[in-house]
Amino acid sequence: MADKPEYKLWGGRFAEPTDALMQRINASIGFDRRLWVQDIRASKAHAAMLARQGVISSEDAKAILEGLRRVGEEIAAGGMEWRESLEDIHTHVEARLKELIGEPAGRLHTARSRNDQVATDLRLWILDTGRELDQALVEYQRALVNLAERHRAAIMPGYTHLQRAQPVLFAHHMLAYVEMAWRDRGRLADCLARASVLPLGAAALAGTTFDIDPASVAADLGFKNIFANSLDAVSDRDFAAEFLFTLALIQTHLSRLAEELVLWSSQEFGFVALSDAFSTGSSIMPQKKNPDAAELIRGKTGRVMGDLVSLLTVLKGLPLAYNKDLQEDKEPVFDAAGTVLDCLRVMAPMLLNVTVREDSLRRAAQGGFLNATELADYLAARGVPFRQAHEIAGRAVRLAESTGRGLEQLGLDEYKNLDSVIEQDVFEVLDPSHAVNRRVSPGGTASRNVEAALMEARKRLWPESD
Ligand code: ARG
Repeated sequence: MADKPEYKLWGGRFAEPTDALMQRINASIGFDRRLWVQDIRASKAHAAMLARQGVISSEDAKAILEGLRRVGEEIAAGGMEWRESLEDIHTHVEARLKELIGEPAGRLHTARSRNDQVATDLRLWILDTGRELDQALVEYQRALVNLAERHRAAIMPGYTHLQRAQPVLFAHHMLAYVEMAWRDRGRLADCLARASVLPLGAAALAGTTFDIDPASVAADLGFKNIFANSLDAVSDRDFAAEFLFTLALIQTHLSRLAEELVLWSSQEFGFVALSDAFSTGSSIMPQKKNPDAAELIRGKTGRVMGDLVSLLTVLKGLPLAYNKDLQEDKEPVFDAAGTVLDCLRVMAPMLLNVTVREDSLRRAAQGGFLNATELADYLAARGVPFRQAHEIAGRAVRLAESTGRGLEQLGLDEYKNLDSVIEQDVFEVLDPSHAVNRRVSPGGTASRNVEAALMEARKRLWPESD
C-alpha cells in the first residue's frame, strides 16, 4: 500500500488509492526537489500577476507570497519532509503552503497547470546553472592561459596520427583548448538565449480562460520572451536537449585534454607530472602514481553523452502536448550539468598544478625528424620543386636514420651530395625554434603569433585588469 495520500492534486476523480509501485515510479520528488528555488520563484511571480490582473484578491496574493517565502525558508533550512506520496516539488510546495496559510493556497494554481509550471522551473534552472557553467568555463580558460604563459617559450612536438609531425609551442597547444572553450561558451550563450522563453500561462495545453499577463511574469522572472503556442510551450524540451548537447561537447573537449594529460604523464612521454592532489596510488604497486582525475574526466564523458541520447530518445516518439514521459527530462539534465561542472572545476586546478618538463618536450621535438619539412621547404625556397624537395629530404631522413643521427647531425658534404643548392645556412633552418618561429602565417605557431594570442586571451579573460 502507498502512503496515505494526505494531499493530492487530483484525488477527486479517484475511488481507489494509488498502487505502491505506481507511486514509486510516478514520484519525481527524489530528483526534482532540486527545483525548489525556481518553483517558489515562479509561483511568487504567478501569484503577483494574478493579483495585478484582479484574478485573485490582493489579500490572498499577500498571504500566498508570505507563505511561499516561509516554505522557501523551511526548505533552505532542511525542514521540509519529502514524501513519495506528494509526487513532485510542485505538490510539496503547494501542500506545505496550504498547511501554513490555509484556504488562499488553493487559489495559487488558478490559470496554470503543472505542465507549464514544470517547464518554467526547468528553464529557470537551466538559465541559473548555465551562468555557473559559463563562469567555470572562464576559470578553465584562465588556467589554460596561465599554464601557457608560464611555458611561453617551450617547444614540443606537434602530432598528427599521434606521430611526431612538426615542432610547435606548448603555449600554442594550450591555446587550441582555449579556442574550443570560446566556442563552448558561445554555444552555451546561444542555447540559454533560446531557453529564455516563459512557458507559464500555457496552462495544461490550450491556454486559459483567465485574463493573465504572461509578459509581466516573464519580466519578473527575467525571461527574454514568452511562448507563442501553448501546445509547444508545455511539450517543448529543445532547450534541454540543446543544453545537453552543449554539455556533451564541453565534456568531449575536456576528455581530449584529459587523454593528453594521461598520455603525457606516462613514462613513455614524460612531458608532464600531475600533482599528488589529482592523482592516486595503487594498493599493490608502491611506485604507481595514477592520473585518476584525468581518467575520470575522460570516463565521465560516456555518461554525459548518454544523458543527451537519453533525452532525445524520450522526445522522439511523443505526441503533442505534455506526456508524463517528459518527467524523464530532469535526471539527464541534472546529471550532465553536475558532471560537467565538477569536471571543469577539477580540470582548472589540475592544470594550474601540473609540472611541465620543458626539457623532455624539447628532447622529443628534436628527435623524430620533425625538421624534415624545414629541409624540404629550404630546398623549395631555393628553386627545387616541392615534390622533388620532399623526395630529397626523405633521402636525408633515411641516411640520418640508418646512421643513428638527426638531420642536424649530417655533414654539409653529405647534404651537398644530396643536392648542391644546400649551403651551411641549412643548419639554422633545422633548429626547432627556427621551424616554430618561421610559421608566422595567420594562426600559426610562431612565437610572435602566440604572444599576440596570449595577450588577446588575457584581455578577454581578465577584462577588469585593463
Ligand atoms: N513531475 C512532473 C514532471 O516532471 C510535473 C508535471 C506533471 N504533470 C501532469 N500532468 N501529471 O513532468
